[in-house]
Amino acid sequence: MFNNTYLLPTMHSTILVTGGAGFIGSNLIKYILEHSNTHIVNLDALTYAGNLQNLTDVELDSRYTFVHGSIQNAEIVRYVLRRYNISGIINCAAESHVDRSIQSAQPFVDTNINGTLVLLEAAKEYGIRRFLQMSTDEVYGSLGAEGFFTEETPLQPNSPYSASKAASDCLVRSFVHTHNLDAVITRCSNNYGPYQFPEKLIPLMISNAVNDISLPVYGDGMNVRDWIYVTDHCSGVWQAYQHGKAGEVYNFGGKSEKYNIDVVKMILQGVGKDESLITYVKDRPGHDKRYAIDCTKAERELQWQPTVTFEEGLAKTIAWYQDNNAWVENVRSGAYLAYYAKQYQQ
Ligand code: NAD
Ligand code: TYD
Repeated sequence: MFNNTYLLPTMHSTILVTGGAGFIGSNLIKYILEHSNTHIVNLDALTYAGNLQNLTDVELDSRYTFVHGSIQNAEIVRYVLRRYNISGIINCAAESHVDRSIQSAQPFVDTNINGTLVLLEAAKEYGIRRFLQMSTDEVYGSLGAEGFFTEETPLQPNSPYSASKAASDCLVRSFVHTHNLDAVITRCSNNYGPYQFPEKLIPLMISNAVNDISLPVYGDGMNVRDWIYVTDHCSGVWQAYQHGKAGEVYNFGGKSEKYNIDVVKMILQGVGKDESLITYVKDRPGHDKRYAIDCTKAERELQWQPTVTFEEGLAKTIAWYQDNNAWVENVRSGAYLAYYAKQYQQ
């Protein structure tokens, strides 16, 4: 079925996952440890979005190692590649929130562009056999009412966040073409699930609803996102890492397009709260109207499919946030409160 089975991890392969203390990275590390014999080193700078509590399930696993450091630091990156005899890299480390990129773009350039370049240079120097760049469908820009993003859609990023992701994708592409680096790029739609920082739509609305805080809907609530449960994204990334062709891009989506307002109403219903908690607030500048993904290439070439329906995934996510109030309270403090006040001041 797959030609390049030499990439299948052996008993002793060790890969570097960057940004593994974040939402998708921590879910991905658990997914890989469950589904293979791979050893993983997690290099994470522990920014506001990085949380080692996301990894308590695996911290005692002998196949898992945490290193505290930034992907912008070439010395640390090179040390990790040497010290742990790393054979592959999955780059999840990023500044990831559009609203923060509107408040201040510099950290996005620093980590998403410069940090990715540091990883690419080190991967070239140390002969890394596979590099996976975790990117986003937001690099394609915004859709009207019709159509889907394919891997051929031109890059038209609209926010500083998506511009920084598009720039890093271009760097990855250039290292494939110029230096023969064996790299693939994945572009996924909006993720949701356990351990997502409550600044993104779904965890923010769930935790506000649980705490009877108003639910701030941008504009008219008619923007559309395609929602994917995080483990479906993780399975796609792991398939692309093992079986993707060098130089290729793979899109992943959940086949679950929803208007934001409908997502918010489903959350209120799931939490058992009244729609009077909804507050329409001023729109996000440059707000992309609609994202929708055509993922037939991943289905055809990676034998991948999303498996969790939105209704099922949302119910699991709401239950997780209700059962893990201590985790939510821990992150909804200090700097988060300052960010929240600045973002939602009217
Ligand atoms: P996140 O913000 O939850 O986590 C990012 C992680 O990266 C954190 O642990 C943070 O500490 C770490 N980090 C930040 N800067 C770093 C640096 N300089 N060096 C090392 N670590 C650093 O993000 P996420 O939602 O888990 O997203 C992970 C990746 O997936 C990102 O590249 C993002 O662009 C991409 N993505 C996210 C979504 C989504 O819906 N969340 C969708 C598609 C793609
Ligand atoms: P978000 O989770 O920030 O993801 P992205 O902007 O990367 O798609 O936002 C998802 C959608 O929800 C987006 O259209 C903006 C909207 N939104 C709100 O209406 N209110 C909010 O408080 C947030 C955070 C997002």
